[in-house]
Amino acid sequence: MKKTILLALTIWCNFSFGQGNTHTQSAGKFEGLAMTPPMGWNSWNTFGTSIDEKLVKETADIMVSSGMAAAGYNYIVLDDGWMTRERDANGDLVPDPVKFPNGMKAVVDYVHSKGLKFGLYNCAGTQTCAGYPGTRGYEYQDARFYAKLEIDFLKYDWCNTKGITAPEAYTTMSNALKTAGRPIVFSLCEWGDNQPWEWGKPVGNLWRISGDIYPCFDCEFKHPENWSSWGFMKIAEMRKDIRKYSGPDHWNDFDMMEVGNEMNDTEDKSHFAIWSMLSSPLVAGNDFRKMSKETLAILTNKDLIAINQDKLGIQGFKYSAEDGLEVWVKPLSDGNWAVTFLNRSEVSKKINFDWKKHLIKDADFGYEANFSKTVYKLKDLWKNKEIGNTKKNFVAELGSHDVITLKLTPQL
Ligand code: GLA
Repeated sequence: MKKTILLALTIWCNFSFGQGNTHTQSAGKFEGLAMTPPMGWNSWNTFGTSIDEKLVKETADIMVSSGMAAAGYNYIVLDDGWMTRERDANGDLVPDPVKFPNGMKAVVDYVHSKGLKFGLYNCAGTQTCAGYPGTRGYEYQDARFYAKLEIDFLKYDWCNTKGITAPEAYTTMSNALKTAGRPIVFSLCEWGDNQPWEWGKPVGNLWRISGDIYPCFDCEFKHPENWSSWGFMKIAEMRKDIRKYSGPDHWNDFDMMEVGNEMNDTEDKSHFAIWSMLSSPLVAGNDFRKMSKETLAILTNKDLIAINQDKLGIQGFKYSAEDGLEVWVKPLSDGNWAVTFLNRSEVSKKINFDWKKHLIKDADFGYEANFSKTVYKLKDLWKNKEIGNTKKNFVAELGSHDVITLKLTPQL
């Protein structure tokens, strides 16, 4: 009898006091919510904390009317700045009543009524990066709040986290969401500081792998407070080698896109191509109300989206780089491949690519394209045009910062 009580006590102790410990927790994330990279829109890149109900509704309307939703974009995510500076007397988060005069539930319901999904942002620390109430110490309460609002996506940041460790903090929130019972995509945003790709798979559905993106091709923007934001090619370069950690339901997140913001259309095209090649979540960060038709065409290029959303879910890699001309490749389902030629230099380049001289091997996932053995048909995905096969050299002129993306299909 005594033994039984002792055993019961031991099990209870392990369960109760193991809550903060990654290795003894077993709740795990909601599985299967992001089998292909999530697609949507996030407010931060363009609007910062200047967000409100009108913006959400107009964005949702345009997401549907412009064809973005039909192309696959379905999450509308409000980033930092949606709350008041203090919790209420019960310790609950409070949506800012000036920005959201009808409350947040009305906003969520509106987005749902459009056939879209809705996401919010908070932070693992005591405060968010913009100084609003963080979730530390309120994990289960906040998770219940989100479940009651019926949100579908939570981005969870990493500011003001002194004294806590990332795997524990993110696991606690993941468990809180699971306990609250509503399937919510859990998006880890700790910038890659603690290698989330190594421990994030049971915890979340995607994780940021770098500091913030900046709307430029290849620059580093140094903030006065001693941190940097990065041009999209800097981020791609920084994390191109952790591809084996990314896959269905556990994506390396290269950050919200800057397509339609401060770069030109050529650079936007390259940005979109590289995010597609890397199987990054495709989260637009521009103002839909001012979107040019060129921006819309880039964001809704069906063939590029199909590369990004391919069911194998393999992050592409840089195959070669010579004199500023880079070749990025990505194995696709059914024996297909995507190949992107990128001119990273400041001058035009001539491409003369003799396929037969190349053997592309994906050492991480075991795929191979052997052009001496297999002939592939070629489609130019930006021109939407079949352009022959790999028997002949691929010859083209490529402007500075431009891309050509081809889909290769074995010719039977
Ligand atoms: C961090 C994140 C950004 C954004 C801001 C909000 O910098 O990395 O994506 O969420 O916080 O304050």
